[in-house]
Amino acid sequence: MKINLTKPSIGQKEIKAATDVLKSGWLIRGKQTAALEAEFAKYMGAKYAIATNGCTMALYLALKRMGIKQGDEVIVPSLTWSATASVVVNVGATPVFADIKKGTWCLDPADVKRKITKKTKLVIPVHYAGRFATGFENFPVPVLYDSAHRIEKGDFNGTTSCYSLYAVKNMTTVRGGMILTDNEEDAKWFMMAVHGGIAKDTLSRYKGAEKQNDASSFYYEVEWPGWNFDMTDVEAAIGRVQLKKLPKLNAKRNTIVKKYNKALGLKNTGNHLYPVLVKDRDKFLVGLKAAEIHCGIHYLPLHQMKAYKKYAAKNLTNTEFIGAHCVSLPLYADLSRSEVEYVIKQVKKYARFE
Ligand SMILES: Cc1ncc(COP(=O)(O)O)c(C=O)c1O
Repeated sequence: MKINLTKPSIGQKEIKAATDVLKSGWLIRGKQTAALEAEFAKYMGAKYAIATNGCTMALYLALKRMGIKQGDEVIVPSLTWSATASVVVNVGATPVFADIKKGTWCLDPADVKRKITKKTKLVIPVHYAGRFATGFENFPVPVLYDSAHRIEKGDFNGTTSCYSLYAVKNMTTVRGGMILTDNEEDAKWFMMAVHGGIAKDTLSRYKGAEKQNDASSFYYEVEWPGWNFDMTDVEAAIGRVQLKKLPKLNAKRNTIVKKYNKALGLKNTGNHLYPVLVKDRDKFLVGLKAAEIHCGIHYLPLHQMKAYKKYAAKNLTNTEFIGAHCVSLPLYADLSRSEVEYVIKQVKKYARFE
């Protein structure tokens, strides 16, 4: 029995939605993207959603909008994907790594507070594995959530948050991301930023030309140099189907998490990843590989990587321990009951839990 670490849940509806757009003659920044933005904002409880081509670009734009620049410090976890810290470096600022909490593996607000200096402009907590990073409400420095691992109905609490709709996430557009905000001015800025700094997008110019008797709708202004981080309409159409399915997809993931917990005697929360700590990780990985079960490591700490070593901080004790022993077990909505049972059997055979 061959089992993937993760697998997107793509069915005929997604295929039809993508095909319809491909046949429609309008592939990008059209009705589908606008509709997904509106539906995603409503689902999450935010006023505005801006589609991007990934969470990396969403985070980057959020930092640019906040004016983060050279000389500024941004506090981030080290047990995360590179993007949480790369965006800090790519706007010219300095990432400062803080430790994570033992229970949730999310950023530890107490350690973040210890690391705040006069230069600190922002903290980026990650909702690791789908676990909401708590303790950052009314925080002494601005907060931006990296919610690449978590898409839960009604989750938005007013703090600007960035989402990933990458292929392996709880819902996908293949590649894609979202920024959620309640701030109208920020939303307008993000809309322009993803599309060349132009206030009037292609669709409104086109629509205007259809309706009006004068030529004014053809004219546009580039307000400032933007980027080109658009989501395509093909992706957005897939995303709209996935968003409808999301409550079911998340519920299926939750059921699998419960089964793993019961069988392995653990109390994991979150439904994006199912990480465990094992004593001898190499032996465990090789054993499961022989059983044709594909596992993952989320994550090897960033401060130990070539790209980030120069920003390494002392006392990232929890991060380093977890980074040395964590393994993610297969978790995706379409994982069948017999596959889950097979994984549990093999895990029990090879794992000695920390
Ligand atoms: C925690 C975290 N942040 C950011 C990203 C970047 O997301 P994207 O691939 O959509 O750019 C990822 C991607 O896996 C992630 O896991």
